[in-house]
Amino acid sequence: PIHQTQYLIDGKLKVWSGPTTDVYSSISSTEEYKPTLLGSVPHLQEPEAMDALNAALNAYNKGQGVWPTMHVRDRIICMENFVKQMKTKRDIVVKYLMWEIGKSLPDSQKEFDRTVEYVEDTIEDYKNLDRNAAKFQKHDGVYAHIKRGPLGVVLCLGPYNYPLNETFALLIPAIIMGNTTIFKPAKHGVLLITPLLEAFQSCFPKGVVNIIFGRGRTVAAPIMQTGKVDVLALIGNSKSANALQDQHPKSNRLRLVLGLEAKNPAIILPDADMDLTINECLAGTLSFNGQRCTALKVIYVHEDVRENFLKKFSEEVDKLKFGNPWDDGVKLTPLPEPDKPAYIQDLIDDALAKGAKILNKKGGKHFDNYIWPAVLYPVTKEMRVYQEEQFGPIIPIVSFSDIEEPLDDMAESNYGQQVSLFGKDVYTLSPLIDTLVNLVCRVNLNSSCQRGPDVYPFTGRKDSAQSTLSVHDALRSFSIRTFVAFKDN
Ligand code: G3H
Repeated sequence: PIHQTQYLIDGKLKVWSGPTTDVYSSISSTEEYKPTLLGSVPHLQEPEAMDALNAALNAYNKGQGVWPTMHVRDRIICMENFVKQMKTKRDIVVKYLMWEIGKSLPDSQKEFDRTVEYVEDTIEDYKNLDRNAAKFQKHDGVYAHIKRGPLGVVLCLGPYNYPLNETFALLIPAIIMGNTTIFKPAKHGVLLITPLLEAFQSCFPKGVVNIIFGRGRTVAAPIMQTGKVDVLALIGNSKSANALQDQHPKSNRLRLVLGLEAKNPAIILPDADMDLTINECLAGTLSFNGQRCTALKVIYVHEDVRENFLKKFSEEVDKLKFGNPWDDGVKLTPLPEPDKPAYIQDLIDDALAKGAKILNKKGGKHFDNYIWPAVLYPVTKEMRVYQEEQFGPIIPIVSFSDIEEPLDDMAESNYGQQVSLFGKDVYTLSPLIDTLVNLVCRVNLNSSCQRGPDVYPFTGRKDSAQSTLSVHDALRSFSIRTFVAFKDN
């Protein structure tokens, strides 16, 4: 086990000798199932949280600090050095992604490589942004030199399902735009940040990046209560986001950059290509065991093709391979959250009590800390699995006869991130797409929902998001337009 004692404040890697939090893997290293102790991280308290905040405030120095006033060229050099050092940590970070959150080897490698690409694309986009800002505009005799400036201190919290990629999608654009930051990793996927502490420490001026460990209510809440945070950047659940937002005494001054829950539906029309639809629905519902905000979380299938879809889809779900993340061809892996199987079981029990059935033979079977994906049909609005974001291996299916039925459900939903639409007839699809883009932010035609490529806008309507996160948009989310104007006189 790795007993990690360091945390980063004000450019110093401090050593913690107080209480620590054990980090467990849900992967068993013994024959008989038993979670594995991976190590521990500091359980920091309020004084350390305040130290991190003060370091970030001092480094920002009301916009006059070294970092917010630094020339773009020099900020780029810092970020280029960082990504260079980051690349050397691939093997260890990938190993921790597998052990800490149970992500398969190919997906863990993809998460690392995608994050490196995200940082490199951010650097390139930042260069373009600066190039464009160098041009003067002239309207009605007024010249303007318009730039993008930082916002201040950013508190950044990431989720367990993409502990590297999603947190860096917040942190990296926040840093490069000249803000100063405090970053608290998620509960699962926390040890994997430790190999990167030194790179953060050596590549950026002191106080620009502060990395703390601990519970949200012990370290993040007191930081918010000071009212000195300018941006709350969080990918995770709205309960945590709201709780933190409420701590801020002047929350109307707080900018929110949030990626939250979603209940993305698939809509299967009668002329859909069935093999393609089944493959995409399998990936969409069960990649990383359904623990993705972009996962398909409800499937609407037209009654004309329902029986065919239900039969084939259920058979395919039972053919998926369960195993450890490094096993060949593995699709389903141990769940990092020990309470998840019980939660999934509650959703199944509720649906069964209200008239649904499990269609696949293995559906709902428990072993170790896992529960086999359950294909549930018919699912109705009264069921919890219809209402809640399951974020795990359970697939609710609804049958429809009129397209207005799924459209009305989507319009009434509290969420509005993406939809997958399966069908062929362009005269049916075209007007439907026009409607769907007003209900969600991304329509995936004959393909499952996903965030990437990361240059595309990633956002949502209603409770699903605030601000937009793509390489391009995130630079804007973490900055404000400022300009110098002068008259032609
Ligand atoms: O949890 C939400 C993630 O951003 C999903 O990303 O669609 O690439 O798996 P992904």
